[in-house]
Amino acid sequence: MKYEVVYFTRTGNSKRVAEKISSKLGTDLVEIKDHMRWNGFIGYMRAGFYSTMDKKVQITLSEPLKDYDELIVVSPLWAGGLASATRSFLSMLPRGKVHLVVTSIGSMIKDRSGYISVTDIIERSQSEDDVIEKFTSHFMHDLIE
Ligand SMILES: Cc1cc2nc3c(=O)[nH]c(=O)nc-3n(C[C@H](O)[C@H](O)[C@H](O)COP(=O)(O)O)c2cc1C
Repeated sequence: MKYEVVYFTRTGNSKRVAEKISSKLGTDLVEIKDHMRWNGFIGYMRAGFYSTMDKKVQITLSEPLKDYDELIVVSPLWAGGLASATRSFLSMLPRGKVHLVVTSIGSMIKDRSGYISVTDIIERSQSEDDVIEKFTSHFMHDLIE
């Protein structure tokens, strides 16, 4: 199986998690960028609004996707759903190709159906490294074969 790790980040948490996963699995790492202003209080409010309204944004990838079998997509949770750039990215793909990893402060994503797997990394209640270890261990068997 060929995997690629794709992430979006606003403040660096999902980037850090994506880097750890791609380093453990030895995969490429691709960033989703949207060129929106999400910083500061106004940016935070805008982000919440975009997520709540399910607004899509224009995105670019730091490099083109290669010939993958399955993607590992790492994204922050915004107002109970995925960040707008991640939604825009995922709207172009079948969920059945995606392992979703969601970083958040305290809650879990509700819309979980159709993905190969959904993993929550919850800052307040979990050890990030333990969750990543458990998550990546499922892939090790495939990579060795
Ligand atoms: C607009 C916005 C909405 C958020 N909504 C939630 C939420 O509903 N539940 C939660 O636990 N965390 C929420 N968070 C916190 C982020 O999911 C969390 O800090 C995440 O790890 C940030 O990832 P990043 O550093 O990759 O941007 C929200 C953050 C933002 C900016």
